Amino acid sequence: MRNKVTVVGAGNVGASAAQRIVEKHLADVVLIDVVEGIPEGKALDLWESAPVEGYDCRLKGTRDYADTAGSEVVVITAGLARKPGMSRDDLLAKNYDIVKGVTEQVVRHSPDAILVVVTNPLDAMAQTALRVSRFPKQRVVGMAGVLDSARFRSFIAEEMDVSVDNVHAMVLGGHGDTMVPLPRFSTVAGIPITELLPAAVIERLVERTRTGGAEIVALLKTGSAYYAPSAAIVEMVDSILRDRKKILPCAAYLEGEYGIRGLFVGVPVKLGRKGVEQILEIQLSEGENRALQQSARAVQELVDKLKI
Ligand SMILES: NC(=O)c1ccc[n+]([C@@H]2O[C@H](COP(=O)([O-])OP(=O)(O)OC[C@H]3O[C@@H](n4cnc5c(N)ncnc54)[C@H](O)[C@@H]3O)[C@@H](O)[C@H]2O)c1
Repeated sequence: MRNKVTVVGAGNVGASAAQRIVEKHLADVVLIDVVEGIPEGKALDLWESAPVEGYDCRLKGTRDYADTAGSEVVVITAGLARKPGMSRDDLLAKNYDIVKGVTEQVVRHSPDAILVVVTNPLDAMAQTALRVSRFPKQRVVGMAGVLDSARFRSFIAEEMDVSVDNVHAMVLGGHGDTMVPLPRFSTVAGIPITELLPAAVIERLVERTRTGGAEIVALLKTGSAYYAPSAAIVEMVDSILRDRKKILPCAAYLEGEYGIRGLFVGVPVKLGRKGVEQILEIQLSEGENRALQQSARAVQELVDKLKI
């Protein structure tokens, strides 16, 4: 029996995630959207590439949530994306209504699913999905840190001209301008970059990471990033479905960890078949902790606006 993953939102991020999931032979995919023809057309187009790419995972495009029933994982990408000059937070009210409605439908048909929330503003939307679904906190997780860390990793690998395989990075905090890249916990072949690169260079790479999403938005002009976001989503889906228990920076619901309570914030978690199986609490320096708390306050302000 193949696994079943529903991807809500057949836009750039959702369709790319669907493609990566089937190409990695991870699961059958149901692609669902509100726009007539888009999920059906993209799913059919992807299925027609299966004989060439050699995957047997089936795809279904639909607007009917009955087709999503019994999904092990549901990825929520439905919503509006940023346009140039827009912050992720500008999306708040519009995407709240969308994520609320989507979550209500999803949980009715897949009560045991793990929800991977992608829609921005990420941390507030994960909180919305948790509240609306009434799922245990282990089964609602937000994608942000894997993407932000991948950006940091790509910049480090480019700067040092080394294999990306050698580079690991940790970016914590909310998925916004206050995110917290942690150079001390970012390594090349296990060596912290603080031992390998001058402070000014690290600061430049950290700043580029913080504004990595905006850099792509400014270039594309008509939308936001989707290749790296979909890759990040699928690393999480893979770790969940295959119970790989990878340690990945994800938005998780904190209840006292890092001194933060009742809020989704990006922290290192163990992702497995049960979802968020563990939250790792690492010892932060005073400065790192201050940045994390500041980031959490920014998330709290958004959540307060939603009164959820
Ligand atoms: N967490 C992250 O790191 C990250 C990264 C990239 C994008 N995002 C976010 O992901 C979301 C999607 O981005 P995108 O580039 O794919 O946008 P997009 O505009 O290409 O696609 C969004 C899709 O959602 C659909 N949609 C709208 N309302 C819906 C509903 N009620 N039910 C089902 N589908 C609905 C739209 O029809 C559209 O096809 C945005 O909110 C974006 O900001 C987050």
